[in-house]
Amino acid sequence: MRTLSATWLLLLALPLATQLDRRAGEPPRPGPELADRRHPRARHPLSAADQARFERGRALFERDFHRSSGLGAPEMNADSCRGCHQDPVLGGAGGLELNVSRFARDNAGAGPFQNLPGGQGLSKLRPPYVAGREEYTLGEADVFEQRQTPSILGDGLIEELDAAVILANEDPLDADGDGIRGVARRLVIDGKTELGRFGWKAQVPTLSDFVRDALGGELGLTSPADARGFALTSDTDAHADPEIQTAEADDMAYFLTNLAAPERVGSLEPEVLLGELVFAEVGCAKCHVPELPGLDGPVPLFSDLLLHDVLPADFRGMSEPGAPAGSYRTPPLWGIRTSAPYLHDGRASTLRAAIALHAGEAHAVRKAFEARPLVERDALLAFLRDL
Ligand code: HEC
Ligand code: HEC
Repeated sequence: MRTLSATWLLLLALPLATQLDRRAGEPPRPGPELADRRHPRARHPLSAADQARFERGRALFERDFHRSSGLGAPEMNADSCRGCHQDPVLGGAGGLELNVSRFARDNAGAGPFQNLPGGQGLSKLRPPYVAGREEYTLGEADVFEQRQTPSILGDGLIEELDAAVILANEDPLDADGDGIRGVARRLVIDGKTELGRFGWKAQVPTLSDFVRDALGGELGLTSPADARGFALTSDTDAHADPEIQTAEADDMAYFLTNLAAPERVGSLEPEVLLGELVFAEVGCAKCHVPELPGLDGPVPLFSDLLLHDVLPADFRGMSEPGAPAGSYRTPPLWGIRTSAPYLHDGRASTLRAAIALHAGEAHAVRKAFEARPLVERDALLAFLRDL
């Protein structure tokens, strides 16, 4: 007897594959941002001049700087931005070994929290298997915090959101009694109040500010002084300051601002659809708000961009004005399937572990999730892997 030919198998499998995909007719795909790791897409069509600017910014983000162009202050964490932001494409997230650390003194948890020179400003490559920041601390620091490299993809859409859209979800006094507060990060920049949108504690308002901050903090490259205060304006290496010109820093920011957001896999599998329902029903969506209204339609980021404390009550970490220890910005979940490890310090290597570590404001929601039958919990994970 003849066996089924490959063609027959293909014909039999085709209708099934089509049925499984959200957009009928298209084969399931990993997301177009994976098409070319080094040339991530812009989020909208750009004119020839703008495309050239995007490419200039990309090249700088990718560039390996050398001592001869001022790299290091004299210390640095990497010789390029790409060195950390690279998964799944340029501008994406980074692995655990690329964690940086911060330190301070909180008197063994009893308080008060005290900043130490360089403790929060200096970002130092310090993977979790290395104990602390002994070379900076002179025995005074007793609290350390790791920070994991987040993805920048789609951040331009976050920057564009009207402040009122973010403020609308605040509930500082928990008026609705659901145990979830949510406060926006307010920063005073050059005498004016602005919303913090980027960084684990929403400590930076714009991508342009973050570029200057990272040029100094990660690469030890100085840029021109401005009134916003994020640039490292002078350092101790022999290279003349500024080592990066305003036009270059602006091109880098232009590149980041225009990076396309991660695209959903878009599976229509019943498990994924069930997972999406469970996500809303147990209350994940109260903080990981599926979409916020943007300039060009809904922005499907799965975050409210507000600070929440989901850490255990005895957590010790960095404290800043308006963002006490334990407070972190709800991380957007778009692209979460490619940005492991998870949480501000990367201590969760799987999505399951990330959920299990939700406490504080998210305690009741996690309990509600855990009370669901296994098939629903698995479905929720399948949904997250679709994002
Ligand atoms: C040593 C690794 C490392 C290098 C090199 C690095 N970054 Fe980062 N990046 C991080 C970490 C860690 C964070 C999170 C910091 C925090 O919130 O405390 C971050 C956060 C960011 C963010 C905010 C993303 C968000 O959505 O919150 C931007 C923008 C950014 N980096 C841009 C850059 C640029 C531009 C460069 C090069 C000049 C660069 N980074 C180099 C590790 C790195
Ligand atoms: C009270 C607000 C809140 C609720 C409710 C909540 N989260 Fe979170 N979530 C956060 C915050 C804040 C973090 C970051 C915590 C940290 O970095 O230590 C986070 C982190 C995560 C991460 C890791 C993201 C990353 O990029 O590292 C995942 C995944 C996640 N949450 C999924 C869920 C799921 C699924 C639920 C529902 C079962 C849920 N969350 C409920 C606020 C919330």
